Amino acid sequence: MTPQSTVDLTDVDLFVRNKHPEVFTWLRETNPIYENITADGSRFLALTKYDDVLWAYRDHELFGSTRGAVLGGSFGSEEDSAGGRMLVASDLPRHRMLKQVIQPAMSAIVTARVSDQVRVLVGKAVNRAIADGGCDFATQVATELPAGALMVVMGIGHAEAHELIDLTRRMVGFRDEVFVDTSGDVRLRLAWLQAEIFEFFTNIVTERRRRPGDDLVSMLLAAEVNGRPMNEEDILYNCMNVAVGGNETSSYTACTGMHALIENPAAYDRFLAEPALLDSAIEEMLRYSSTNAYVQRVARRDVVRRGVHIAAGDSVTLWNFSANRDEDQFPDAAAFDIARTPNRHLTYGSGLHRCIGAPIAQAELSLLFGRLAESRARFRLAGNVRRLRSNFILGITELPVELA
Ligand code: HEM
Repeated sequence: MTPQSTVDLTDVDLFVRNKHPEVFTWLRETNPIYENITADGSRFLALTKYDDVLWAYRDHELFGSTRGAVLGGSFGSEEDSAGGRMLVASDLPRHRMLKQVIQPAMSAIVTARVSDQVRVLVGKAVNRAIADGGCDFATQVATELPAGALMVVMGIGHAEAHELIDLTRRMVGFRDEVFVDTSGDVRLRLAWLQAEIFEFFTNIVTERRRRPGDDLVSMLLAAEVNGRPMNEEDILYNCMNVAVGGNETSSYTACTGMHALIENPAAYDRFLAEPALLDSAIEEMLRYSSTNAYVQRVARRDVVRRGVHIAAGDSVTLWNFSANRDEDQFPDAAAFDIARTPNRHLTYGSGLHRCIGAPIAQAELSLLFGRLAESRARFRLAGNVRRLRSNFILGITELPVELA
C-alpha cells in the first residue's frame, strides 16, 4: 500500500480475501490511531498498536461500552436499546451487578462439566473424521465445542444446542449470503435475527420457570439486580450475549488453528511430536486467529494519545487482530510459532470486560487439539477454504480436510 492510500476497515472483502494482515501492518507503521471514514460517511478511530489497545481496554472510565462492541450498533447497542442491559454493553456499576449474576454460570465446576461433555462430543467427531478419512472440520468437528458448552451452561440437549448455534451463526454472519438473505435493510435483518434468538430463549425461560435447574437461565430467573428480579427482556439479552459470545468464537478459533497447522507443516510436525507443547500451541492459535477482530468503545471525555485528539463521544475500535501482530510485542509476529513464549495476546480482551468464557474456551480447545494430537492423525486440505463475511468475527466456515 502507498502512504497516500486510505482504507476502510468496514470493507468485509479485505477480511474475506485475507488482506487484513498487510493492511494492519501498514496502519501500525504509518497511522497507528487511524481515522476511518466509511462509505456511508460515518467515522470511527482505529487503535492498531498493542500498547494503545491495552491502554483503552484498561481505562474503562475513559472508554465506555454502552454503544455495544460492534460498529454500527448491530449487536447490543444504545440504538437497539440493549446498551446498559447486556453484560458486554454495560458500564459500571451495572456491569458489576450483571457479572455477579452471570459469572457463576461459568464457574470452575461448570467448566469441569463442560469438559466432560465436550470430551465425549469431540472424541466421537474426531473418531468419525478418521474413520471416514476426512470431514468438513468447520461444520462436523469445530461446532461440537460450543455444542458441548451450551448443553451444560444452558441445560439443553445436543439437537437444541445445534439449533441455537445455527441461530447465532446467522446473527454473526449477518453480512454473509451463506447464512442470511443479504438483500434488504440491514437493521431489519438484524432485528429479525435477534427476534429468532429471543424466541428460542423465551421457550427455555418458560420451561425453567416451571422446572428450574442449575443452568444460566434458571440462575438469571432467580437473581436480583439492584434488589429487584431481572425483567424478562434483560434475561433474554444476557442469554443472547453468552450464546453469541461463546458459540462462534471458540469454533472459529479451532478452524483457524487447524488451518494454521495445515499451512505450516513444520509446526504440525512439532505439534504431533511434542505433546508438551499443547498449551503454548493453543495460546498461539488464539493469538494467530484473533477471532474477535475488534471491540468498540466510546470515549467519555476528550483525550490526546500519540498527538491524536480523541473527542468525547468518538467511537474508538480496539483491534485485537492488529495488537496481536504488533512486532513491538511479538517478535516475528506473522509467524505461527506453537512454542512462542511469552505470548500475552489480547484475544480475550483485557480489563473490566475480559472474556468470562475464557476458561470454558481454553478447556474446549485443549480437549479438541489434545485429542487430535493423541490420535496422531494428520490432516491436509481437501478443497477450498471459505471465510466468513465479517470484519468482527474472523472465521472459516468451510474447512474440508482429509487424512494425509
Ligand atoms: C476463543 C473463544 C473466545 C474469544 C476469542 C472471546 C473473545 C471475547 C472478547 C474479546 C471479549 C471482550 C469484549 C469487550 O471487551 O467488549 C469477550 C467477552 C465476553 N465473552 Fe468471550 N470469547 C471467547 C469465548 C467465550 C465463551 C466460550 C463464552 C461463554 C460461554 C464467552 C462469553 C463472553 C461474555 C459473556 C463476554 C462479556 C464479558 C463482559 O462484558 O464482562 N466468550 N469475549
